[in-house]
Amino acid sequence: MKARVITVTNLKGGSAKTTSCAYLAHAYAAQGLSVLVVDADPQGSALRWSETGEWEVPTLALPVKNLHVRLAGIVPATTDLVLIDTPPLDENAGIVYSALRAADTIVVTMAPTMMEYERLTDVWAAIDEVEPLRETPAAAAVLLNRTIPNAKSTETFRDLITEGGHHVLTTTIPRREAIAQAFAAPVTDLGAYAGAAAEIAALEVAA
Ligand SMILES: Nc1ncnc2c1ncn2[C@@H]1O[C@H](COP(=O)(O)OP(=O)(O)OP(=O)(O)O)[C@@H](O)[C@H]1O
Ligand SMILES: [Mg+2]
Repeated sequence: MKARVITVTNLKGGSAKTTSCAYLAHAYAAQGLSVLVVDADPQGSALRWSETGEWEVPTLALPVKNLHVRLAGIVPATTDLVLIDTPPLDENAGIVYSALRAADTIVVTMAPTMMEYERLTDVWAAIDEVEPLRETPAAAAVLLNRTIPNAKSTETFRDLITEGGHHVLTTTIPRREAIAQAFAAPVTDLGAYAGAAAEIAALEVAA
């Protein structure tokens, strides 16, 4: 399997994992890459979104705890990039650990709020725990989303996370009504996700 694997994760529900997976997948597909979305969340939100007529990216559901073993046999040889959408870590740790093991790159999606910041400790702990189990190290970065333009919170939490030794993407995804209503609609306006996709791809090279 030549494909690079990007796992989108966080501790809790509602942190924009599925939304980010959908937009990033379409951003990479728009660049001409062959992309596969793997929905590892038993809730199947990404899979349901993909059932709408204008979803452009091949998508399958594989909500299993041995994803890191199964993936190589499932991903076509022609696929450049796999995006894994995950369930909340606190609800389905087995699946999430497996999706983290499978990853070359890990994207942690969160809003710049204290409530979401506090949850990061558990996410870094899970990432650290799987690190010795992989052959090559994974690159991990936070993608801040639901940011408010010019609000202090974006830089406050960027600084806190950076001081904690973790990488935060320069690109942030603003809070937008179009994104809030995006589920089951065509992913057309990539907005800031195009820049986020480029930054994440660069992380992969660095890894
Ligand atoms: N940039 C944004 N602006 C406004 N709303 C957003 C943005 N990103 C995500 N949302 C909204 O936040 C909610 C949670 O997003 P999403 O379903 O992607 O989270 P999730 O982490 O996948 O949740 P779950 O763990 O339950 O699957 C959704 O209603 C979504 O539309
Ligand atoms: Mg989801």
